[in-house]
Amino acid sequence: MVTERKMEEKIQALLEHVEDQEQREHYTRLITTLLEKGYFPGLAEVPVVKSAVSHIDGMHGKLTYRGYPVEELAEFCSFEEVTYLLLHGDLPLKDELDELRMKLLEQKDLPLDVAELVAKFSPKLHPMNMLSSAVLMLEGADKGSAMIKNNKENLERAICLIAKFPTIVGTFLSKDPSFNKGKKFSSFSEYALFCLSPEQSRLPERVRQFEQSLILHMDHTMNNSTFSARAVGSSEAGIYSLISSAINSLSGPLHGGANERVVKTLEKIGGPENVVAEVDDSLEHHQKIMGIGHRIYKTYDPRAKFFKDHILPNIFVDELKDEEPDLWRLYATAVQLEKYVAEKLGKKKLYPNVDFWSGLFYRALAVEPEFFTTIFAMARVAGWCAHWLEQREGDGKIYRPFQLYAGFDIRHIVR
Ligand code: COA
Repeated sequence: MVTERKMEEKIQALLEHVEDQEQREHYTRLITTLLEKGYFPGLAEVPVVKSAVSHIDGMHGKLTYRGYPVEELAEFCSFEEVTYLLLHGDLPLKDELDELRMKLLEQKDLPLDVAELVAKFSPKLHPMNMLSSAVLMLEGADKGSAMIKNNKENLERAICLIAKFPTIVGTFLSKDPSFNKGKKFSSFSEYALFCLSPEQSRLPERVRQFEQSLILHMDHTMNNSTFSARAVGSSEAGIYSLISSAINSLSGPLHGGANERVVKTLEKIGGPENVVAEVDDSLEHHQKIMGIGHRIYKTYDPRAKFFKDHILPNIFVDELKDEEPDLWRLYATAVQLEKYVAEKLGKKKLYPNVDFWSGLFYRALAVEPEFFTTIFAMARVAGWCAHWLEQREGDGKIYRPFQLYAGFDIRHIVR
């Protein structure tokens, strides 16, 4: 029998040629998991693709898009610039930027049949299910979309689709297929905020904060929805199918759907004074606290940090205590929750993720919690499309992993 020590030596011998220390540690963890479990639960740490779109350094809490730190992009760039960066690999020149801004605004309208159907969708439908259905329906007006060999056409399709996300949500919310007609907008972010919260879109500083919040969400390596987009894309299905699948993945509470649950949890807790009892109760019942933890970050999520340090302090100013006491109470509850969770779960390296703080911002924009994840999707669709375009230029292999069979041996019908 091979002793643990011998096994360790064998693994190290196998990895002798791997010079990068981090990569060595990564492979060691992978091999150890394989030997111990025989498979990789949740595909944790399994490299499935080579991608140049974004990168996370989970130990140091760093996220970059095409090499640029996400905080710098949020501070200095527009949504259009970052969209261009993700789709093309580099920041745009002025003409390229103007062209993209114009395209995003010109292509925002839905085909009339889709707009009319979305306006008539039952209000009981969750907005994320509504969004994924509406995206699928767009295929009807774009019959060439099954031909995916031409990346120039794929790129134009991607821009066209990104432009339509806010309109889908605005049409569903207003129940009016022509809710945006006759109105002029200067940027994607202004328009997107108008679709969700028309009053707030009149305030330039809110539009800018909203734009920053979009930028923070635009890509995030091989997360569940991007993986879904790539998995569907690998079968050579068209853009509407893969983006619709990605939306469905994003809706889950362990992924983007957490932002909706965070605010609902804060409402349920009811105030900072109840935090300790509620958290203790959840942990006792092995319930996860929404907005806490991350597969990759083992320190504070940089996107959560940007919300906490740069966006929320501009909104949760002292005057809000009197002007909007309910909203202030949610904020105070979140601050207390963060503190107590750090005390209880800090040793497990569990910290607030982006969804912990983003929901408070969306609530301050007067958006209903069920719509929070649609905002996430409006941003992340740019990342999904960037991954799809990259995939189209890659090895073209269909995703088809392996299962360990755990069912019956062959058995026969006996009559
Ligand atoms: N609250 C309490 N405990 C948590 C936790 C949370 N939110 N997230 C993870 N943990 C604990 C688990 O119970 C587990 O503890 P154990 O080792 O003692 O059993 C450990 O941390 C590892 O958790 P696990 O679920 O295996 O980690 P993961 O990498 O598979 O999952 C998430 C990552 C994000 C899915 C997970 O942290 C989570 O469900 N968070 C809440 C949902 C959320 O905010 N999602 C948005 C992500 S951006």
